[in-house]
Amino acid sequence: MAIITTKDMFKKAYAGGYAIGAFNVNNMEIIQGITEAAKEVDAPLILQVSAGARKYAKHGYLMKLIEAAVEDTNLPIAIHLDHGDTFEICKACIDGGFSSVMIDGSHHSFEDNITLTKQVVDYAHAKGVVVEAELGRLAGIEDAVAVKEEDASYTKPDEVEEFVAKTGVDSLAIAIGTSHGAYKFAGKAQLRFDILEEVQRRLPGYPIVLHGASSVIPAYVETINKYGGNMPGAKGVPEEMLREAAKMAVCKVNIDSDLRLAMTAAIREVFATKPDEFDPRKYLGPGRDQIKELVKNKLVNVLGCNGTASSY
Ligand code: G3H
Ligand code: 13P
Ligand code: ZN
Repeated sequence: MAIITTKDMFKKAYAGGYAIGAFNVNNMEIIQGITEAAKEVDAPLILQVSAGARKYAKHGYLMKLIEAAVEDTNLPIAIHLDHGDTFEICKACIDGGFSSVMIDGSHHSFEDNITLTKQVVDYAHAKGVVVEAELGRLAGIEDAVAVKEEDASYTKPDEVEEFVAKTGVDSLAIAIGTSHGAYKFAGKAQLRFDILEEVQRRLPGYPIVLHGASSVIPAYVETINKYGGNMPGAKGVPEEMLREAAKMAVCKVNIDSDLRLAMTAAIREVFATKPDEFDPRKYLGPGRDQIKELVKNKLVNVLGCNGTASSY
């Protein structure tokens, strides 16, 4: 199995009433934890790389690690640029072997978002790469840029048809109340299912993407705090709401913060219980194991995409 685009994934997910997990990757242990989990439950995957991840690990290393995971697991895997904010970074990722890119023009005006998205779509499609765009603006922190709650805005359903028609973009991230990071603004995030329903009605069969979809799993926050952390109480997107969204038009669900919490909780536990441990394999290994357990649960119990990879 080679690296694939998300086209087939979204078609099958839409028809099957499930969603594909899009997990952020930054190093080998994270990639292995995610892909080993997916292998065990036969799930396709989107591995996504932010600008920060490219800077941290370098594009070439992440490509080779993901290629190794594809070879090791034989799973259908897409490599996606998360939150590309310029044409240049999208072009670099398209030229560098990614099968999918996000151009996030959500901080621009509607018209400028269309122009920028269309520029990326034209370049990407000519090279067989698919594109995700964003309409509406999530609150939270991405790449060290904080979007305050009052600057966030829900997607306006009456803009989506024009946006998709004018850009030719392959999938659309919408803002319905989720937010980025481990400190989410909404207490129990109230997802605006009415907006999702209206978008779905206006764009029948069209794949929708949900960012900021970590549940900020309380057990990890508790472990981190037990061993010296001071994180405020968990406020994430309830998993049953994600399950509902996955049955609707949402075909891609973005998860990063829960991976970070899982890995950090496991590593903190090692250092707290074995303070003299200094072999990186003895703490990164448990971090990887915890990511594997987390991802398996997401794929099976939240997204419902398990058992579908072998149909590719
Ligand atoms: O939405 C952003 C992702 O969580 C990536 O975060 O930019 O710190 O890598 P990052
Ligand atoms: P979380 O911070 O909720 O994991 O969201 C990740 C995300 O949307 C990446 O694009
Ligand atoms: Zn995001």
